[in-house]
Amino acid sequence: MEVLRTAFKEKLNSQISEFVSSIDADEELILADLQGSIAHASMLGKIGLLTPEQTENILHGLNTIMAKAQAGNFELKSEYEDVHMNVEKALEKEIGADALRLHSARSRNDQVALDTRIFALSQIELIIDSIDKLKQALVDKAKEYDNAVMPGYTHLQPAQPIHFAHAMLAFFEMFERDLDRFKDAAKRTAVSPLGAGAQAGSGLSIDPFLSAKQLNFEHVFKNSIDAVCDRDFVAEFLFASALTATHLSQLAETLIIWTSKEFGFISFKDTVTTTSSLMPQKKNPDPIELIRGKTGSIFGELINILTTLKGLPLGYNRDLQETKPPLIKVAKVISSCLTVMTIAIDQMQINETKMLTAASDPEMMATDLVEYLVLKGLPFRESHEVVASVVSIARDLKISLLEMELTKYKSVSMLFDSDLYEVFDAVKSVEMKNSHGSTGTSKVMSALEEMIGPFARPTIPYRSAV
Ligand code: ARG
Repeated sequence: MEVLRTAFKEKLNSQISEFVSSIDADEELILADLQGSIAHASMLGKIGLLTPEQTENILHGLNTIMAKAQAGNFELKSEYEDVHMNVEKALEKEIGADALRLHSARSRNDQVALDTRIFALSQIELIIDSIDKLKQALVDKAKEYDNAVMPGYTHLQPAQPIHFAHAMLAFFEMFERDLDRFKDAAKRTAVSPLGAGAQAGSGLSIDPFLSAKQLNFEHVFKNSIDAVCDRDFVAEFLFASALTATHLSQLAETLIIWTSKEFGFISFKDTVTTTSSLMPQKKNPDPIELIRGKTGSIFGELINILTTLKGLPLGYNRDLQETKPPLIKVAKVISSCLTVMTIAIDQMQINETKMLTAASDPEMMATDLVEYLVLKGLPFRESHEVVASVVSIARDLKISLLEMELTKYKSVSMLFDSDLYEVFDAVKSVEMKNSHGSTGTSKVMSALEEMIGPFARPTIPYRSAV
């Protein structure tokens, strides 16, 4: 970069110049950078460091560049190292000498911290919207099949019958918390670092609150060193993304298992399935597998940023430039995963018969049989033992619990009576559950009733003007 090198005698080595440039990532930050400059120029005007004419000239120039950037006509040149110098040079070309006043009381250090925060906030807003859509898709699917009863699993072994809707709403809860985490991260991200300068603030009478207000930031930095040197908001964004990706991956894995021939509980429409180049019969859930597959790279970026930050001495360090690509990459990946999962859920069909058949294996109701004995007054632990013995006898006889005669039951406990066979009904099993938050039919139905979409869009403290 041949700008800003008056104190140097030699040119910057061209390979070094390319190495230190951040323009690849900065492509994503042009609008944020211009927004920041507009707010800074307005503030300089208001405090009298720029005359009204100079302010107007600078704002006009910045708005012209903004229009070009919005139309995709603003190209970053690598010789100018980063987006900040590119904008400064473009402004000089656009309006002349007044451009040289814009950088008063500002450093690229507080500028880049601001741009990164603006970008992160705009992505959080998009992600919150995408999570909302996914939550809605889960509720819609649960409502569409509100009667479906399926096996619930522990250790991936059939455990007890559950409502399919209860399973969908379990994922709903996870994504609800993810959404909250992004909203919460937004609070700490919406703190303007503009005015921190290189790290010590400025001797000029700037007002960081004015520029922050114009940018819709609710808060302003308290410590100028902290303002330029931390990127914990990026780490928070990546953690919120990593946990969302974890939930997406768990949902993906669950659906992949359910869609296998062996389970056969669900199928996806052709719109979201792919086939094999060799085996013509194959209908594969590749998009869902890819959601699971992309999780690793998101985790990797979280470790990437934590590792980058952990070694930094106090103050601005150029390493911080490396925090931008993970943020940009993860924002794109998590957004696309959320969108694809929403489409997949929407295009998912349920085989209710297959689900009910699997849930109707009498062994699935062994716990209900234990509760049958508890209701007859037998202590729980003894009831558990009795039913375990009954299960063992049926297995030895190679018959189901439903087929086994009453005499065999009575040989273990005289508390058994002919009404025991009524327990072996999966639909009745879920109807009987009535504890808080359970899969009980009335509980699930009222949970569904409470969810009247579309959900109110959560408000975050900052809305990007871009
Ligand atoms: N390009 C840098 C970044 O992306 C900002 C420039 C700060 N450079 C400096 N020498 N202080 O983080």
